[in-house]
Amino acid sequence: TVLVVDFGAQYAQLIARRVREARVFSEIVPSTMPVAEMLAKRPKAIILSGGPSSVYAEGAPRLDASLFEAGVPVFGMCYGFQLMATALGGTVEATGTREYGGTPLHVTKPGSTLFEGTPAEQSVWMSHGDTCSAAPAGFSVTAATDLVPVAAFENDEKKLYGVQHHPEVMHSTYGQQVLEHFLYRGAGIEPTWTTENVVDEQVAEIRARVGAKRAICGLSGGVDSAVAAALVQKAIGTQLTCVYVDHGLMRKGETEQVEKDFVAATGVQLKVVDASERFLTALAGVCDPEQKRKIIGREFIRVFEQAQAEIVAEAGAEGEDVAFLVQGTLYPDVVESGGGTGTANIKSHHNVGGLPDDIEFELIEPLRKLFKDEVRMVGQELGLPEEIVQRQPFPGPGLGIRIVGEVTRERLDLLREADAIAREELTAAGLDRDIWQCPVVLLADVRSVGVQGDGRTYGHPIVLRPVSSEDAMTADWSRLPYDVLAKISTRITNEVAEVNRVVLDVTSKPPGTIEWE
Ligand code: XMP
Repeated sequence: TVLVVDFGAQYAQLIARRVREARVFSEIVPSTMPVAEMLAKRPKAIILSGGPSSVYAEGAPRLDASLFEAGVPVFGMCYGFQLMATALGGTVEATGTREYGGTPLHVTKPGSTLFEGTPAEQSVWMSHGDTCSAAPAGFSVTAATDLVPVAAFENDEKKLYGVQHHPEVMHSTYGQQVLEHFLYRGAGIEPTWTTENVVDEQVAEIRARVGAKRAICGLSGGVDSAVAAALVQKAIGTQLTCVYVDHGLMRKGETEQVEKDFVAATGVQLKVVDASERFLTALAGVCDPEQKRKIIGREFIRVFEQAQAEIVAEAGAEGEDVAFLVQGTLYPDVVESGGGTGTANIKSHHNVGGLPDDIEFELIEPLRKLFKDEVRMVGQELGLPEEIVQRQPFPGPGLGIRIVGEVTRERLDLLREADAIAREELTAAGLDRDIWQCPVVLLADVRSVGVQGDGRTYGHPIVLRPVSSEDAMTADWSRLPYDVLAKISTRITNEVAEVNRVVLDVTSKPPGTIEWE
C-alpha cells in the first residue's frame, strides 16, 4: 500500500484516487498518526499531501522527521514538500510571494526521476504562500517557477522527492505522469492493483468471516448496495438474503430491474416486500417536504425490520444464525467519518436506504476501501448490467419528494410516465454520462391553461431539472441541446394526460438544491 498522509483540506482523497488510477493501492491516514504506526503498515511509499497551513503557523500539523530516515520512499506535495524541506535542513521562507492557480513551471533537470519525458515548460497548479528558497543538502533542484527558485527537489539516493505544486489536480498538465514517475521509478512499485484483485480478496475474506452463518443485505436499487450485495453473493451464495422494499415511489421499471436483472445477473436470494399501500396511506394528505421525508424514512425502517425479523425467524427455525448485515459504505464515507476501524456495529453508519440504527449485527462492508468509480468497475467485473452499474443518483424517498403537493397513486403514475420519457430521450441522445442526474418534478398543486387538440386544458406543469455536478454538494444546470428538450417536451405533453406544460429549471446549486423538496 501507499499511504497518503492527510494534512487537511481536500487534497488527500484526490491524491489517493490518482495513485489508484496508477494501479497502486493507496490509503489515507491522518497526519496525527505516529510515524511508527505508519511504518507498521509496511507502506511501499508515503505521500505527504498539501494542506491549508503555513509550516511556521502555530498549531500547524507536523511530522516526525524520523519518517525520512526509515528507508521508505517519500513524496511531498505543496505543504508536504515544505515540511520535508524544513525537516531536512532546507529553507522555507514566508516571503509574501504567493502563487495561486495555473503557473508555468520550468524543469531545470529534464531527465530527473520525476520529470523525465515531460516538457521543460509545463503548466502546474500552485496554491502556496511560503516559498522554498534552498533545498536540503544532498537534494538536487529539478524545477523552478518565475517566483520560486526551488519548486521541486529530488534525492534519488534516499528516495525522497518533493514538488511545490499539486500534481493531483487536473490543471497540472503532467501531474499524473509526475506521480507515476514517483511510484514506478522513484519507489519502484509495480502497477498491479486492479478491481479484479479487490473482488478476489474480498470474496476470500467474506467467506472466512461468515463461515456457516448467514447475512442480510438491504437493496435500495442504487449502485452501492447492488455491488456490495453482488460481491457478498459471490462469496457466500445462498447464505445471503437480500431485502428490497418497494415503497411504491420508484421510477418506471426500477423494481422490475432489481427483481429480474439483478437476480438474473447474480442469482441472489431476494425478498421483495411490496409496501406501496402502506406508504401511500401514511403519506395521505401530507404536503410538507420534511414531513414526507420523515414518514418515508420511518415506514422504510419498519418494513425493513419486519422483513429482517422474518428472515431471522425462518433461519432460526432451521437452526441457522443470521449474524451479518451487508452495507454499501464507500471509502469517502469512511474517511469523512474519521476512518473508523470497521468493526463497529451499525450505529456508526446508516448508509443503505436509511437502515435502522439499533440492531445488533456485525457489518460486512466490502466497498469501504473503494471510491465510487471503482465500485462501478467492481460491479462490471461481477457482471452486473450496465443499467445498474452506471445508474445516476436517485433519492431514497424517491418520487415522493418529486411531487410538489400531496402524493397520490394517480400522480405517481403520471410522474412515472413523464420521468420515463425524459430518461428515454436523454439516453437516446447519449447524454447520460454528461449529466449528473435529471430529476423530473410534478407541480401537482399548480395548474395552467393550455390548448390541446381543439380544446382548452387546465393541467399541471412538469419541471425538468438536469444538473451537472462532481459530488452533488454544488451543481450547475445542464445546457442540454434544444432539440432534445423539444423532443422531451413534445412527448410528455402528448403522452402524459393532465400535463400541458414542460418547464426547464435553470437554477444552480446553490441557491437551489438539486431536488425540489
Ligand atoms: P439536494 O436536493 O440536497 O440533493 O441538492 C443532493 C443529492 O442527494 C440526493 N438526495 C437524496 N439521496 N436520500 C438519498 O439517498 C435522500 O433523502 C436524498 N435527498 C436528496 C439527490 O438526488 C442529489 O443527488
